[in-house]
Formats: sequence, C-alpha cells, structure tokens
Amino acid sequence: MAIRIIGTGSYLPAKVADNQFLSTIVDTDDEWITQRTGIKERHLSNGREEGTAYMASQAALSALENAGVNAEELDMIIVATVSADTYVPSTSCSVQGAIGAIRATCFDINAACSGFLFALNTAYAYIEMGMARTVLIAGAETLSREVDWSDRSSCILFGDGAGAAVIRQEEGEGGLIASVTGSDGSQGDVLTCKGRGIQNPFHNSRRKKDYLKMEGQAVFRFAVTTVPRCIRQILKKTELEPEDIKYFILHQANVRILEVIAKRLKVDIEKFPMNLDRYGNTSSASIPILLDELNREGLLQRGDRLILSGFGGGLTWGAILLEW
Ligand code: ACO
Repeated sequence: MAIRIIGTGSYLPAKVADNQFLSTIVDTDDEWITQRTGIKERHLSNGREEGTAYMASQAALSALENAGVNAEELDMIIVATVSADTYVPSTSCSVQGAIGAIRATCFDINAACSGFLFALNTAYAYIEMGMARTVLIAGAETLSREVDWSDRSSCILFGDGAGAAVIRQEEGEGGLIASVTGSDGSQGDVLTCKGRGIQNPFHNSRRKKDYLKMEGQAVFRFAVTTVPRCIRQILKKTELEPEDIKYFILHQANVRILEVIAKRLKVDIEKFPMNLDRYGNTSSASIPILLDELNREGLLQRGDRLILSGFGGGLTWGAILLEW
C-alpha cells in the first residue's frame, strides 16, 4: 500500500503588488528587489473577507476536485499557518465549515515556512496508524497582515496565498517514502512575529506594533546550510543519488538561496522549479502552491521521485521524499 498525494489545489488573491508599486510605499526599487531576491510581484489579500481561512477553503475545494474526492469523505483536515484569522476557531475548523467536511477531525499546526511538510508528515502518521484514511492538508497565509509595511528589508519578501493536497492510502507502490525534520528553538529570535503580550490585572505588556522581524542574513545562512544537509540525509537514508530525483520542490523564499542550495548539492538549478518571482514568499503555502502548478501543468508523472524541502521560523526544517 502507498500513502500518496492524490490531488492538489491552490488559491492566490487577485490583487497583485509588483516591485514598482512597493517602491511607492518604501524606499526601494525593482532592480534591488529582483537582484537580491528574484521576486517581481506578490499577491495580496483584498481584506477581511479574503483571509487565511477563505484562501485555505478555496485551495481545499480545488484539491478535492483534482482528487475526485467529496468533502464528506475527509477524515481529517490539517492546516499549517502562522497567520490565522482567529485564535479560535482554528483555520482547519473554519475550512471544515466552509467546505462541508462533516466527518473530519480538524486542527492547525504552526511550523512557519516548514508547516506544509510537517502537515504532510502528520497526515502520513495518522493514515499509517489506521486512524484516518483520507486527509486534506493545506498551507495558507495572509502574511500581509503580519508584515511591517515600513520595513523595506522584509515587506518586499512576502505574499499571501494557499495551497492544499489530499492524502490517501491506496493500492500500489510509492507515495511518501522517507522524511527528515528538525527544529532549533535556541535560534528562534532570528525570525519572529511576537504579536501578543500579556494583558491581565497585573501586567500590560501588549505592544501596539509587533510585526514580523527577521535577521535576513542569519536566515540566509541557516537556509543554505540546513536544507542541503537534510536533503543529503534523506538521500543517504533511501540510498538514492540526486540524479534519481526529478524535482527538488523547495520553499520559495529567495532565488539566491535556491541557487546556493543547488550548487552545494551539485544539482542543475533546472531541477528546482520556481514561482517566487510571481508570488514572493508565502511561507507554509509556497510548497503546495508550487506542487499544484507542476501537477496541473502535467509535469508530474506516476513514479517520479520528488524531494519537498523547506526551512522556516522556529527554527524548523524538513525534507520529504515521495514517489508521485
Ligand atoms: N530596497 C533597497 N535597499 C534595501 C532594501 C530594499 N528593499 N532592503 C534592505 N536594503 C538595504 C539595506 O538597508 C542595506 O543598506 P546599507 O548597506 O546602506 O546598510 C543594503 O540594502 C544591504 O542590506 P542587507 O540586509 O545586507 O541585504 P542582503 O543582501 O542580505 O539582502 C535579504 C537582504 C534579501 C533579506 C537577504 O538577507 C535574504 O534574502 N535573507 C533571507 C531571508 C529570507 O529569505 N527569509 C525568508 C523568510 S523566512 C522563511 O521563509 C522561513
């Protein structure tokens, strides 16, 4: 039996902000952003109605249609996000309500930009244990609500969007084969979005402004050392070589990060599909959006070996090897 992705979906808001538009908000320009990041434009939410739960629901419906699965067949919904619309209900419960997945058990996880990988592993574990048969996972973010729009070093990087996948156990070979994950909370301060203080009768440490903050160069160094390491670990574990992998589907943060990773692994950059030029960094949504694009373009054939890999705040990282 194989536990595999049987359908994918994604959703991007219609509103697009290109680099030229951002240069009217902060002191930057298209040349700087393109050279340092590869990003040309990003999609941004249209407001409260187009929040994380809405985008996740749209991506979920599209993944269900692609998989040929009804919402009532879902046993579980797991949404990875760092930008939920509400503390309660969880985004996954809101998705359940929106799509009518009446039988599903729902919960969110937060592993920042590695979130989709951790959700995929969690779905795998539940199915492998016989505790679920059909699971919908999504990565969905409205990062535009967390970004400091006066900080030119970070606001140019991020975008909004959602991606989803349906996971099911089926007859046959392949599916999810191996995974490597890790976390390092001692380095958590290099990328934070504190957002909440404590407000009770004894304390009031709630700050008006506590947006996403990042030490860009530290994150860059972390990404280009950790991602190649965990990809090498997974290749070793499965006794495969980089040549055996069709695509390395990586978290879409920065073209320079992907180029360094490809170089360190001695793999042709052509094997690293990218869409960050159009969407920027959508955190936990970036891997499933890219996966959905490849799937819908007919670039994934049964039996293709793929490595999904990412890194994120926390710090967190992971790599998953699967056979499509
Ligand atoms: N436009 C113009 N100039 C800028 C901008 C901007 N948008 N942002 C910063 N600068 C300036 C800085 O002020 C600095 O000026 P100075 O030399 O006069 O002080 C200069 O450009 C260089 O700044 P650096 O921070 O050294 O630029 P760097 O080459 O490191 O690029 C960047 C910054 C793009 C953030 C890079 O460090 C990076 O990509 N880091 C990884 C971050 C990342 O990908 N995070 C992903 C989010 S985390 C996640 O996905 C898990």
